[in-house]
Amino acid sequence: MKRLLASLTVVLTATAAPALAQDSLLEDAQSYFEAIPTVVPAPKDNAIIHDKVHLGKMLYFDPRLSSSHLLSCNTRHNVDLSGANGLSTSVGHGWQKEPRNAPTVLNALFKVAQFWDGHAEDLKTQAKGPIQAGVEMNSKPERVVKVLKSMPTYVDAFAAAFPGEEDPVTFDNVAKAIEAFETTPITPSARFDQYLEGNANVLTDHEKKGLQIFMDKGCVACHNGVNIGGNDYYPFGVVEQLGANILPRNDKGRFAVTDTATDQYVFRAPPLRNLVLTAPYFHSGNVWNLKQAMSLMGTAQAKN
Ligand code: HEC
Repeated sequence: MKRLLASLTVVLTATAAPALAQDSLLEDAQSYFEAIPTVVPAPKDNAIIHDKVHLGKMLYFDPRLSSSHLLSCNTRHNVDLSGANGLSTSVGHGWQKEPRNAPTVLNALFKVAQFWDGHAEDLKTQAKGPIQAGVEMNSKPERVVKVLKSMPTYVDAFAAAFPGEEDPVTFDNVAKAIEAFETTPITPSARFDQYLEGNANVLTDHEKKGLQIFMDKGCVACHNGVNIGGNDYYPFGVVEQLGANILPRNDKGRFAVTDTATDQYVFRAPPLRNLVLTAPYFHSGNVWNLKQAMSLMGTAQAKN
Protein backbone atom coordinates (compact mmCIF):
# COMPACT_ATOMS: atom_id res chain seq x y z
CA MET A 1 0.00 0.00 0.00
CA LYS A 2 2.81 2.33 0.99
CA ARG A 3 4.45 1.61 -2.35
CA LEU A 4 1.27 2.27 -4.26
CA LEU A 5 0.84 5.59 -2.48
CA ALA A 6 4.42 6.56 -3.25
CA SER A 7 4.04 5.85 -6.95
CA LEU A 8 0.68 7.63 -7.02
CA THR A 9 2.43 10.70 -5.59
CA VAL A 10 5.00 10.48 -8.37
CA VAL A 11 2.32 10.19 -11.04
CA LEU A 12 0.28 13.00 -9.53
CA THR A 13 3.27 15.30 -9.32
CA ALA A 14 4.18 14.43 -12.89
CA THR A 15 0.71 15.08 -14.24
CA ALA A 16 0.39 18.27 -12.17
CA ALA A 17 3.25 19.87 -14.08
CA PRO A 18 1.35 21.12 -17.17
CA ALA A 19 -1.16 22.92 -14.95
CA LEU A 20 1.70 24.75 -13.30
CA ALA A 21 2.84 25.95 -16.73
CA GLN A 22 0.49 28.88 -15.98
CA ASP A 23 3.10 29.99 -13.47
CA SER A 24 4.15 33.43 -14.71
CA LEU A 25 7.82 32.95 -13.78
CA LEU A 26 7.89 29.91 -16.05
CA GLU A 27 6.16 31.79 -18.84
CA ASP A 28 8.59 34.68 -18.55
CA ALA A 29 11.52 32.26 -18.57
CA GLN A 30 10.12 30.52 -21.64
CA SER A 31 9.95 33.83 -23.46
CA TYR A 32 13.67 34.48 -22.88
CA PHE A 33 15.30 31.05 -22.89
CA GLU A 34 15.07 27.82 -24.84
CA ALA A 35 15.83 24.27 -23.78
CA ILE A 36 18.84 22.63 -25.42
CA PRO A 37 17.44 20.39 -28.17
CA THR A 38 18.14 16.68 -27.83
CA VAL A 39 18.33 16.37 -31.61
CA VAL A 40 21.09 18.63 -32.81
CA PRO A 41 20.36 20.87 -35.80
CA ALA A 42 22.77 20.20 -38.70
CA PRO A 43 25.32 22.97 -39.20
CA LYS A 44 25.17 24.94 -42.46
CA ASP A 45 26.62 23.08 -45.48
CA ASN A 46 27.82 20.18 -43.38
CA ALA A 47 25.68 17.05 -43.22
CA ILE A 48 26.41 15.11 -40.04
CA ILE A 49 27.16 11.44 -40.55
CA HIS A 50 28.71 9.04 -38.07
CA ASP A 51 32.00 8.63 -39.98
CA LYS A 52 32.49 12.40 -40.11
CA VAL A 53 31.93 12.76 -36.37
CA HIS A 54 34.39 9.91 -35.79
CA LEU A 55 37.03 11.56 -38.01
CA GLY A 56 36.40 14.90 -36.30
CA LYS A 57 37.03 13.27 -32.95
CA MET A 58 40.37 11.86 -34.15
CA LEU A 59 41.39 15.31 -35.41
CA TYR A 60 40.19 17.14 -32.30
CA PHE A 61 42.51 15.09 -30.09
CA ASP A 62 45.46 14.96 -32.51
CA PRO A 63 48.48 17.18 -31.63
CA ARG A 64 50.02 16.37 -35.02
CA LEU A 65 47.85 19.16 -36.47
CA SER A 66 50.14 21.63 -34.67
CA SER A 67 53.64 22.39 -35.91
CA SER A 68 55.18 21.35 -32.57
CA HIS A 69 53.13 18.12 -32.42
CA LEU A 70 52.29 19.15 -28.86
CA LEU A 71 48.99 21.03 -29.07
CA SER A 72 45.58 19.74 -30.09
CA CYS A 73 42.14 21.35 -30.01
CA ASN A 74 41.63 19.39 -26.80
CA THR A 75 44.64 21.05 -25.16
CA ARG A 76 42.71 24.29 -25.17
CA HIS A 77 39.13 23.01 -24.95
CA ASN A 78 39.62 19.94 -22.84
CA VAL A 79 36.48 17.81 -22.81
CA ASP A 80 37.58 16.41 -19.42
CA LEU A 81 37.76 19.97 -18.04
CA SER A 82 34.22 20.96 -19.06
CA GLY A 83 35.39 21.86 -22.55
CA ALA A 84 37.70 24.64 -21.33
CA ASN A 85 41.16 24.44 -19.76
CA GLY A 86 41.04 26.05 -16.32
CA LEU A 87 43.68 28.65 -17.21
CA SER A 88 43.25 32.44 -17.30
CA THR A 89 44.58 32.45 -20.82
CA SER A 90 45.93 29.42 -22.66
CA VAL A 91 49.52 28.57 -23.42
CA GLY A 92 50.17 28.26 -27.14
CA HIS A 93 52.99 27.53 -29.55
CA GLY A 94 56.48 27.98 -28.01
CA TRP A 95 54.84 28.51 -24.58
CA GLN A 96 53.42 31.87 -25.68
CA LYS A 97 50.61 33.22 -23.53
CA GLU A 98 47.46 33.82 -25.52
CA PRO A 99 45.53 37.06 -25.15
CA ARG A 100 42.11 35.69 -24.12
CA ASN A 101 40.46 33.03 -21.99
CA ALA A 102 39.46 29.83 -23.84
CA PRO A 103 35.66 29.50 -24.03
CA THR A 104 34.18 26.05 -23.46
CA VAL A 105 33.43 23.80 -26.43
CA LEU A 106 30.28 22.57 -24.63
CA ASN A 107 27.19 23.70 -26.56
CA ALA A 108 29.43 25.80 -28.80
CA LEU A 109 27.30 25.07 -31.85
CA PHE A 110 24.45 27.13 -30.42
CA LYS A 111 26.52 30.32 -30.40
CA VAL A 112 25.78 32.78 -33.16
CA ALA A 113 29.44 33.55 -33.68
CA GLN A 114 32.61 32.02 -32.32
CA PHE A 115 35.45 33.73 -30.38
CA TRP A 116 35.03 36.57 -27.85
CA ASP A 117 34.87 39.11 -30.66
CA GLY A 118 32.83 36.88 -33.00
CA HIS A 119 35.38 36.86 -35.79
CA ALA A 120 34.33 33.41 -37.03
CA GLU A 121 30.78 32.88 -38.18
CA ASP A 122 30.60 29.16 -37.44
CA LEU A 123 32.53 26.26 -35.97
CA LYS A 124 34.13 25.19 -39.24
CA THR A 125 35.50 28.69 -39.84
CA GLN A 126 36.55 28.78 -36.20
CA ALA A 127 38.45 25.49 -36.44
CA LYS A 128 40.74 26.84 -39.16
CA GLY A 129 41.88 29.82 -37.03
CA PRO A 130 43.76 28.28 -34.11
CA ILE A 131 45.39 25.60 -36.29
CA GLN A 132 47.11 28.38 -38.25
CA ALA A 133 47.56 31.11 -35.61
CA GLY A 134 51.23 31.68 -34.75
CA VAL A 135 50.36 32.00 -31.06
CA GLU A 136 48.27 28.82 -31.04
CA MET A 137 49.02 25.69 -33.12
CA ASN A 138 51.24 27.55 -35.61
CA SER A 139 50.55 25.26 -38.57
CA LYS A 140 49.71 25.75 -42.27
CA PRO A 141 46.88 24.18 -44.28
CA GLU A 142 49.36 22.51 -46.67
CA ARG A 143 51.35 21.09 -43.76
CA VAL A 144 48.22 19.71 -42.07
CA VAL A 145 47.09 18.06 -45.31
CA LYS A 146 50.56 16.61 -45.94
CA VAL A 147 50.79 15.14 -42.43
CA LEU A 148 47.30 13.63 -42.66
CA LYS A 149 47.91 12.17 -46.12
CA SER A 150 51.02 10.42 -44.79
CA MET A 151 48.83 8.26 -42.52
CA PRO A 152 46.70 5.58 -44.23
CA THR A 153 44.26 5.44 -41.29
CA TYR A 154 43.45 9.09 -41.86
CA VAL A 155 43.19 8.68 -45.64
CA ASP A 156 40.62 5.90 -45.09
CA ALA A 157 38.77 7.90 -42.44
CA PHE A 158 38.46 10.94 -44.76
CA ALA A 159 37.20 8.69 -47.60
CA ALA A 160 34.50 7.30 -45.28
CA ALA A 161 33.57 10.73 -43.92
CA PHE A 162 33.32 12.41 -47.33
CA PRO A 163 32.04 9.64 -49.60
CA GLY A 164 32.23 10.30 -53.35
CA GLU A 165 34.86 13.05 -53.07
CA GLU A 166 37.86 12.50 -55.30
CA ASP A 167 40.43 14.08 -52.97
CA PRO A 168 38.79 14.17 -49.54
CA VAL A 169 41.88 15.02 -47.45
CA THR A 170 41.59 18.82 -47.61
CA PHE A 171 41.87 21.58 -45.03
CA ASP A 172 38.21 22.47 -45.59
CA ASN A 173 37.22 18.92 -44.75
CA VAL A 174 39.42 18.95 -41.64
CA ALA A 175 37.37 21.92 -40.44
CA LYS A 176 34.05 20.29 -41.41
CA ALA A 177 34.91 17.08 -39.58
CA ILE A 178 35.92 18.98 -36.44
CA GLU A 179 32.65 20.91 -36.64
CA ALA A 180 30.76 17.62 -36.94
CA PHE A 181 32.47 16.32 -33.79
CA GLU A 182 31.73 19.58 -31.99
CA THR A 183 28.00 18.99 -32.41
CA THR A 184 28.32 16.15 -29.88
CA PRO A 185 29.50 17.81 -26.63
CA ILE A 186 26.11 19.26 -25.74
CA THR A 187 24.35 19.21 -22.39
CA PRO A 188 20.59 18.78 -22.86
CA SER A 189 18.03 17.85 -20.19
CA ALA A 190 19.57 19.88 -17.37
CA ARG A 191 17.07 20.76 -14.67
CA PHE A 192 16.77 24.21 -16.21
CA ASP A 193 15.86 22.58 -19.55
CA GLN A 194 13.26 20.42 -17.82
CA TYR A 195 11.89 23.59 -16.23
CA LEU A 196 11.65 25.34 -19.59
CA GLU A 197 9.86 22.28 -20.95
CA GLY A 198 7.11 22.83 -18.39
CA ASN A 199 8.19 20.96 -15.26
CA ALA A 200 7.67 23.86 -12.90
CA ASN A 201 8.60 21.82 -9.82
CA VAL A 202 12.08 20.86 -10.86
CA LEU A 203 13.77 24.06 -9.59
CA THR A 204 14.03 24.87 -5.90
CA ASP A 205 12.49 28.07 -4.54
CA HIS A 206 15.98 29.48 -4.09
CA GLU A 207 16.79 28.79 -7.75
CA LYS A 208 13.51 30.33 -8.85
CA LYS A 209 14.34 33.44 -6.88
CA GLY A 210 17.67 33.67 -8.67
CA LEU A 211 15.95 33.26 -12.01
CA GLN A 212 13.52 36.04 -11.12
CA ILE A 213 16.37 38.38 -10.14
CA PHE A 214 18.27 37.49 -13.33
CA MET A 215 15.24 38.57 -15.36
CA ASP A 216 14.31 41.59 -13.22
CA LYS A 217 17.84 43.04 -13.22
CA GLY A 218 18.02 42.91 -17.00
CA CYS A 219 20.74 40.23 -17.28
CA VAL A 220 18.44 38.56 -19.82
CA ALA A 221 18.80 41.50 -22.19
CA CYS A 222 22.18 40.09 -23.18
CA HIS A 223 22.19 36.55 -21.79
CA ASN A 224 19.23 34.77 -23.37
CA GLY A 225 18.28 32.02 -25.84
CA VAL A 226 19.39 28.37 -25.83
CA ASN A 227 22.82 29.13 -24.42
CA ILE A 228 21.81 31.95 -22.07
CA GLY A 229 24.15 34.16 -24.08
CA GLY A 230 26.38 33.82 -27.11
CA ASN A 231 23.93 35.60 -29.39
CA ASP A 232 25.17 39.14 -29.73
CA TYR A 233 27.86 41.68 -28.88
CA TYR A 234 27.71 44.35 -26.20
CA PRO A 235 30.02 46.91 -24.71
CA PHE A 236 31.73 45.53 -21.61
CA GLY A 237 31.04 48.34 -19.16
CA VAL A 238 27.63 49.68 -20.23
CA VAL A 239 27.00 51.23 -16.84
CA GLU A 240 30.48 51.35 -15.35
CA GLN A 241 33.90 50.48 -16.78
CA LEU A 242 35.80 47.88 -14.78
CA GLY A 243 39.49 48.04 -13.80
CA ALA A 244 42.24 47.15 -16.26
CA ASN A 245 42.87 43.84 -14.49
CA ILE A 246 39.41 42.68 -15.63
CA LEU A 247 39.15 44.72 -18.82
CA PRO A 248 42.70 45.14 -20.16
CA ARG A 249 42.76 48.38 -22.12
CA ASN A 250 44.91 47.02 -24.96
CA ASP A 251 42.25 44.47 -26.01
CA LYS A 252 39.55 46.45 -27.78
CA GLY A 253 37.39 43.42 -28.61
CA ARG A 254 35.18 43.60 -31.65
CA PHE A 255 36.83 46.84 -32.76
CA ALA A 256 39.64 44.67 -34.18
CA VAL A 257 37.09 42.89 -36.43
CA THR A 258 34.89 45.79 -37.57
CA ASP A 259 37.22 48.82 -37.20
CA THR A 260 34.21 50.81 -36.00
CA ALA A 261 34.70 53.23 -33.10
CA THR A 262 31.50 52.17 -31.33
CA ASP A 263 32.81 48.59 -31.22
CA GLN A 264 35.61 49.44 -28.80
CA TYR A 265 35.51 47.09 -25.80
CA VAL A 266 32.54 45.28 -27.33
CA PHE A 267 32.52 41.53 -26.67
CA ARG A 268 30.17 38.66 -27.26
CA ALA A 269 27.96 38.11 -24.21
CA PRO A 270 29.22 34.64 -23.26
CA PRO A 271 26.87 31.69 -22.77
CA LEU A 272 26.20 31.13 -19.08
CA ARG A 273 25.42 27.41 -19.28
CA ASN A 274 27.58 25.14 -17.09
CA LEU A 275 29.16 28.28 -15.67
CA VAL A 276 30.03 26.65 -12.36
CA LEU A 277 32.41 24.35 -14.24
CA THR A 278 34.15 26.87 -16.49
CA ALA A 279 36.13 29.24 -14.25
CA PRO A 280 38.00 31.51 -14.70
CA TYR A 281 35.65 34.14 -16.11
CA PHE A 282 35.64 37.02 -18.61
CA HIS A 283 37.77 37.31 -21.73
CA SER A 284 40.73 38.26 -19.55
CA GLY A 285 40.19 35.13 -17.43
CA ASN A 286 41.16 37.06 -14.31
CA VAL A 287 38.14 36.32 -12.14
CA TRP A 288 38.03 32.88 -10.54
CA ASN A 289 35.05 33.25 -8.27
CA LEU A 290 31.57 33.01 -9.77
CA LYS A 291 29.95 35.21 -7.12
CA GLN A 292 32.54 37.89 -7.85
CA ALA A 293 31.91 37.55 -11.61
CA MET A 294 28.17 38.00 -11.03
CA SER A 295 28.68 40.99 -8.81
CA LEU A 296 31.08 42.62 -11.29
CA MET A 297 28.46 42.15 -14.01
CA GLY A 298 25.90 43.73 -11.70
CA THR A 299 28.18 46.80 -11.46
CA ALA A 300 29.35 46.93 -15.08
CA GLN A 301 26.23 45.97 -17.02
CA ALA A 302 23.10 46.33 -14.92
CA LYS A 303 21.43 49.34 -13.37
CA ASN A 304 20.66 48.88 -9.68
C1 HEC B 1 24.56 44.82 -21.89
C2 HEC B 1 24.77 43.38 -21.98
C3 HEC B 1 24.95 42.59 -20.72
C4 HEC B 1 24.18 42.59 -19.57
C5 HEC B 1 22.94 43.44 -19.28
C6 HEC B 1 24.76 41.61 -18.69
N1 HEC B 1 25.85 41.03 -19.27
FE1 HEC B 1 26.99 39.54 -18.48
N2 HEC B 1 28.28 39.73 -20.01
C7 HEC B 1 28.15 40.58 -21.09
C8 HEC B 1 29.38 40.58 -21.86
C9 HEC B 1 29.64 41.38 -23.13
C10 HEC B 1 30.27 39.73 -21.19
C11 HEC B 1 31.69 39.39 -21.60
C12 HEC B 1 32.65 40.33 -20.88
C13 HEC B 1 34.06 40.04 -21.31
O1 HEC B 1 34.46 40.54 -22.37
O2 HEC B 1 34.77 39.34 -20.61
C14 HEC B 1 29.54 39.19 -20.04
C15 HEC B 1 30.07 38.24 -19.14
C16 HEC B 1 29.36 37.70 -18.08
C17 HEC B 1 29.86 36.66 -17.21
C18 HEC B 1 31.19 35.94 -17.36
C19 HEC B 1 30.96 34.64 -18.12
C20 HEC B 1 32.21 33.93 -18.58
O3 HEC B 1 32.07 32.79 -19.02
O4 HEC B 1 33.30 34.48 -18.55
C21 HEC B 1 28.89 36.41 -16.29
C22 HEC B 1 28.92 35.40 -15.15
C23 HEC B 1 27.79 37.31 -16.56
N3 HEC B 1 28.11 38.06 -17.67
C24 HEC B 1 26.62 37.37 -15.82
C25 HEC B 1 25.73 38.45 -15.93
C26 HEC B 1 24.71 38.77 -14.94
C27 HEC B 1 24.44 37.96 -13.67
C28 HEC B 1 24.07 39.89 -15.38
C29 HEC B 1 22.98 40.68 -14.69
C30 HEC B 1 23.35 41.23 -13.39
C31 HEC B 1 24.68 40.27 -16.65
N4 HEC B 1 25.69 39.37 -16.93
C32 HEC B 1 24.28 41.33 -17.43
C33 HEC B 1 27.02 41.31 -21.42
C34 HEC B 1 26.02 41.61 -20.51
